[in-house]
Amino acid sequence: MTKLFLKTNRTLSAILSNYKYSTAAKSVAAVQIKGKEFISDDYTNVTPKILSYLGKNLHLQKNNPLSIVRQRIVNYFYSSFTHRGHPSFSIYDNLSPIVTTKQNFDDLLIPSDHPSRVKSDCYYINRDTLLRAHMTAHQSELLRSGLDNFLMIGDVYRRDEIDSTHFPVFHQVDAVRSQRKEELFPGKPDLEIFEPSFDVNNPHMFINSIDDPMKQSCHTLEATKLMETQLKSHLIGLTKVLFGDSIKYRWVDAYFPFTHPSWELEIYYENKWMEVLGCGIVRNEILVNAGPSNTIAYAFGLGLERLAMALYKIPDIRLMWSTDTGFLTQFENIDLNASVTYKPVSSYPQCTNDMSFWLPPNLTVDTFMSNDFYDLVRDVGGDIIEQVKLKDKFVHPKSKKHSLCYSIIYRHLERTLTQAEVNQIHKEIEKAVVDAFGVAIR
Ligand code: DAH
Repeated sequence: MTKLFLKTNRTLSAILSNYKYSTAAKSVAAVQIKGKEFISDDYTNVTPKILSYLGKNLHLQKNNPLSIVRQRIVNYFYSSFTHRGHPSFSIYDNLSPIVTTKQNFDDLLIPSDHPSRVKSDCYYINRDTLLRAHMTAHQSELLRSGLDNFLMIGDVYRRDEIDSTHFPVFHQVDAVRSQRKEELFPGKPDLEIFEPSFDVNNPHMFINSIDDPMKQSCHTLEATKLMETQLKSHLIGLTKVLFGDSIKYRWVDAYFPFTHPSWELEIYYENKWMEVLGCGIVRNEILVNAGPSNTIAYAFGLGLERLAMALYKIPDIRLMWSTDTGFLTQFENIDLNASVTYKPVSSYPQCTNDMSFWLPPNLTVDTFMSNDFYDLVRDVGGDIIEQVKLKDKFVHPKSKKHSLCYSIIYRHLERTLTQAEVNQIHKEIEKAVVDAFGVAIR
């Protein structure tokens, strides 16, 4: 069997063999990840570069800002919820990021034609296995194992554009808090979680509808409203602990396949509203399928990078991955709640080179997969790629040939790049793009 992914010394041909493979699956090959072998197929699109981030666990690295924010969030939940002196939330921060499509999508009622499943947005190892696109992927298995209150913290993987706030790997905290009738309504035996038509002993008989924007049809309005109030006050409590009492925030109605009703929380930061988390009341089908049919639960998911960047004024998401002491020492042994403002070690200049190419006859400016292009640019260029922007789309009036122009912005975080060195890398990217997508450089 061919070993598709080489851990070190990636050559251009190794990178390209992966892209060619992913665009035109030939024979069966295997993907090696941490000594385990996965069969690859026409869905395989993980790249060696992406696989190199597995196990880095920035959220657990001492002195990394992501780890500091993680600890503050964990402390908030530990101190807000204790039962007889013990924290009532359990923490899972070392779950493998390799999950099945069942975990990432099906268990969460994400429809089979939902856009979040497409190959151009996820890193698939094969049709059935992918790098988790959100920490919610572990919700069902942990519920199934009998847990009721838990936090899931880890790295998640999404194919995306390239700029100062997007990186294909980021970190999330996801949580579930479930309550039985006696916990939700202590001392009020006449209040119910469920409508009388829902039978907890026969939960599969009930067709749960989400047509009513206020609640799921199985739940009572009292239970839903009380859960909503608790959920929102817990999350505002957390936001205030992180950003201070005067933080401006607002709730926005949202839609997630796995919760109903659902909301997003936005905070006002640097003159803009910024979304920091998604949350809602867990769809009862998920709880029933995973076991507990007598509880109601809320869940939420938040991104650690956004919070850390806003809290410490970190201007570029790539800095989270920096091993430069000029960066890390700024967060070394600081008091968890200290207010720290990141001081740029020094800002090295950017170099911008454009790349224009004619597409082959089978592609148009609208069908060309930008995310494939972004991954290839990052695979060849590495972390000095700061941003890739689509600059121009063009259709030749006579020949009807389609052409695209991208600007690639290069910047090293720790030193000045010379134009000659950038030109060299730019040439290599051009060569790779020609080989992988059959385009012609203009
Ligand atoms: N998984 C969602 C995302 O990555 C965020 C989210 C929303 C998580 C609602 C939740 C939730 O647990 O209940 O965008």
